[in-house]
Amino acid sequence: MSAGLYDVIARRRDVRAEFTGEPLDPAVLDRLLVAAHAAPSVGHSQPWDFVLVRDPRTRDEFARHVAGEREVYADSLPADRRETLRPIKVEGIRESGLGVVVTYDPDRGGPHVLGRHAIADAGLYSTCLAIQNLWLAATAEGVGVGWVSFYREEFLRDLLGIPERVRPVAWLCLGPVSHLQEVPDLERHGWRERRPLAEAVHHESYRR
Ligand SMILES: Cc1cc2nc3c(=O)[nH]c(=O)nc-3n(C[C@H](O)[C@H](O)[C@H](O)COP(=O)(O)O)c2cc1C
Repeated sequence: MSAGLYDVIARRRDVRAEFTGEPLDPAVLDRLLVAAHAAPSVGHSQPWDFVLVRDPRTRDEFARHVAGEREVYADSLPADRRETLRPIKVEGIRESGLGVVVTYDPDRGGPHVLGRHAIADAGLYSTCLAIQNLWLAATAEGVGVGWVSFYREEFLRDLLGIPERVRPVAWLCLGPVSHLQEVPDLERHGWRERRPLAEAVHHESYRR
């Protein structure tokens, strides 16, 4: 058993407010990308790509789009939930200094991806595993990661020249942090609690 790995899993946080704005050491970034690229994938298709976005103008344009989508979401909420959302930060796009956009290419691996004939989403799952590898490696390195999903895929495709068939799965904010919170932001702000594990574990049938 590796206590180190379990410790990293427990310490991993989604980071929004704790980015210091310092640049990320290129050697560390390389290690994070190697970790992401080592993820398992359906049919060994490795359907992910990583677009590194440093240009402040691009990050600013994306941050403005995300702010608009946050408004759209807030407007969809009942008044009490809108109030709960108000102090919650949902991104650190400008502060983090680096955006890593992780994409999924369904054509990678050709037309006969082994293991994907019945479950088309298996390619997308693989991309998410690359993200989780990167997230855990970053935590081990003391680097913060924040997943941003408040965007329209067409907008991000246009912004970064991503082809139509390729899906931008995540904009990850990456950078050095002052510290990691011990409790997820959404719990600290009373948005949602963690479910007890016992509720998530079923024996023999989903119904039990
Ligand atoms: C698919 C996915 C999308 C997410 N999108 C956002 C987002 O747009 N903004 C944000 O602040 N956090 C986002 N998060 C982070 C979650 O809010 C966070 O993981 C959750 O609240 C638990 O906190 P923790 O990651 O610190 O344990 C996302 C996480 C996942 C897995």
